Amino acid sequence: MPKPAARVGVNGFGVIGKRVAEAVSKQKDMKLIGVSDVVADYRVKMGQKKNFAIYSSIPEKLPDMKKAGIEVSGVLEDLIKKVDVMIDCTPAGLGARNKAQYDKLGVKSVFQGGEKHDLTGSSFVAQCNYEGNLNKNATRVVSCNTTGICRTIGALQNGLGVRKARVVVFRRGTDPWESHKNGLINTVVPEAHIPSHQGPDAQTVLPKLDITTMAAKGPFNIGHLHFAMVQLKNNPERKDVLKVLKNAPRLAPVRTTDGVDSMNAVAEMMRDLHRARADMWEVAYWEDILNVTDGEANLVYQVHNESVVVPENVDAIRALTGLESEGRRSIAKTDEALGITNKFL
Ligand SMILES: NC(=O)c1ccc[n+]([C@@H]2O[C@H](COP(=O)([O-])OP(=O)(O)OC[C@H]3O[C@@H](n4cnc5c(N)ncnc54)[C@H](O)[C@@H]3O)[C@@H](O)[C@H]2O)c1
Repeated sequence: MPKPAARVGVNGFGVIGKRVAEAVSKQKDMKLIGVSDVVADYRVKMGQKKNFAIYSSIPEKLPDMKKAGIEVSGVLEDLIKKVDVMIDCTPAGLGARNKAQYDKLGVKSVFQGGEKHDLTGSSFVAQCNYEGNLNKNATRVVSCNTTGICRTIGALQNGLGVRKARVVVFRRGTDPWESHKNGLINTVVPEAHIPSHQGPDAQTVLPKLDITTMAAKGPFNIGHLHFAMVQLKNNPERKDVLKVLKNAPRLAPVRTTDGVDSMNAVAEMMRDLHRARADMWEVAYWEDILNVTDGEANLVYQVHNESVVVPENVDAIRALTGLESEGRRSIAKTDEALGITNKFL
């Protein structure tokens, strides 16, 4: 007997929530029951246009949403009562209050990287620790930068062994939809602490990884760029490193020799691939920039902050519900449904 589809609700229909909702609706073994938010602007109206059932996360906001022409199916509690898993995509810091509500109604929950690891006691990147999250009550999909680190450095750790990793994280200044509200111009702002938070965050997924990160944000909004210096065990050659990267899920090579010589070129390629919103769920690493000398790999890779965590949320649903016991099988299902590849060209 096939297992019944997981019933899923999404709370917070912003940058991450709208993408996760669409990704869930594309899975054969999941059913998107509805999405919930507190605003009645174009973003929520787009959800209605896609036939998603809309709920109001705060009961007092329901009249405003109706007045704006949204057909509201109920309040958040009504949605929670209809699902097996809630994906919480509300702004960072709201998770703790929401979790109490999900727990009270006996529903499993997935949180995002803006929440602290302590909220769930468990953090998630599918290729690194899917099985460790099986049947748990709640987990946290780590942030976009941490996901990028765990996928690339995690693959090297798993395939070759990492002695020490040092990663410089060059972060986007703001998200495209709010570039009119904040954003930088003509400057770079270093994070005031070393290590920056991404290193310790990666250790919530890969506890044995020796990693230090430094970060800065700059005046662009198309993603993040990482520069990684990774000391590997047993002095591997370049071809060994490349083989591991090529075989890892959700990593895809790009090459300056193909004219993909910049962040905007990667973004343009996603448009040419007719990706919705130019999303890139994969981490793109520069194959021809990769250098391996004396057992140290130096690599540069790009992370699309708005979409890289989307497949991880889908896999987290399968892990928590036990829909799929093996991470690699969940990853394959998600990747097939979304069109995730190891090869852009
Ligand atoms: N934007 C990114 O690049 C990115 C990447 C990875 C992880 N994250 C994490 O994902 C989470 C969501 O971030 P985002 O960028 O999607 O934010 P966002 O601001 O784009 O979306 C948040 C949505 O939640 C809604 N909301 C506000 N208060 C609410 C409430 N009380 N109840 C329900 N909904 C409410 C907002 O109206 C908005 O639609 C955060 O933890 C963030 O750190 C963001």
